[in-house]
Amino acid sequence: MTRAKRKLEHIKYALTTGNNGQAGFADIHFVHQSLPDLSLDDVTLNTVIGELYLSSPLFINAMTGGGGAKTQEINEQIAIAARETNTAMAVGSQMGAIKDKSERPSFEIVRKVNPDGIVFANLGSEATVDQAKEAVEMLRADVLQIHLNVIQELTMPEGDRDFKGALERIHAIISSVGVPVIIKETGAGISMETAKKLASVSPFAIDAGGYGGTNFAEIENSRRKRILEYFNEWGIPTAVSVVEITHGAPSIPVLASGGIKGADDILKAISLGASAAGMAGPLLKTLMQDGLDALISEISELKEDMKVMMCALGRPTIQELQMAPVMISGDSFHFLKQRGID
Ligand code: FNR
Repeated sequence: MTRAKRKLEHIKYALTTGNNGQAGFADIHFVHQSLPDLSLDDVTLNTVIGELYLSSPLFINAMTGGGGAKTQEINEQIAIAARETNTAMAVGSQMGAIKDKSERPSFEIVRKVNPDGIVFANLGSEATVDQAKEAVEMLRADVLQIHLNVIQELTMPEGDRDFKGALERIHAIISSVGVPVIIKETGAGISMETAKKLASVSPFAIDAGGYGGTNFAEIENSRRKRILEYFNEWGIPTAVSVVEITHGAPSIPVLASGGIKGADDILKAISLGASAAGMAGPLLKTLMQDGLDALISEISELKEDMKVMMCALGRPTIQELQMAPVMISGDSFHFLKQRGID
């Protein structure tokens, strides 16, 4: 199967699989404050993470890799939505376009339609320094994401089987690529131990990419004859992973993604210590099912809802929201307690 066909299958199955509601956010509870002492007009969403300025803590996470007219069209529409809502966006893996230059236009379109926006390039941890530089150059990217996807590769019949040396390659890329590097998971979450290892190479940020949303084991299992059932429910729920990372890598900014479904999940993730939150599958679903205008409306409403809830919580900035108290119940409480994180 060609890479382009595989990417289209990922999109198709991403729309029909996934563990909605198991990312742990139902276990996270805000503590209501009846005297917020601020006006809705005082609430601002902009946030600064290191050298990166974001107009809101929401970013559109990596989705479509290159290949073919269909993925080019999807990338173009996501880039228009990002531009119209002033939202940072990541592209999907650019490895295909590095290996086959004819795939470059499906990424270059992003910069063409969104020349001034914040754009994240994307490659896997198998990438070399030269490939990382090429991915950044292809998009004049502001940031590079490196994804970790062991579960997807092992479930994919044609996937990688050798995961040696990833941290060393990531270190080499961080040292010389020239833009901030985010390390992200793709739906299995990042543990305290992995976060600690990642912190040793000083990434710009770590994105939990936790369990509970788009599920690549299920997507790949939909494409194979002998199903690896055991990977379908494998991973650290996103809410738990965010806390694990803050403990394993206390000095590194944390991003939350994986099963973020609404503005409340974004704010809960920030209250747990994240600096920003990414959404992929739900936004793709809106685009594919309801079109570009619906996607733009959804992103605008997410931002409006964030502001309304921040007003109710008496937290006018993202920085202050990070300090808001939350109550953790259920499985997430027990998970963290047994991990020694209280
Ligand atoms: C993805 N994701 C992804 N991530 C990545 O780093 N590189 C990639 O090429 C892709 N490709 C991709 C394709 C499709 C169709 C989807 C839906 C997702 C993973 C994505 O960035 C994110 O980590 C997960 O999807 C979890 O977030 P959601 O979807 O639950 O919000």
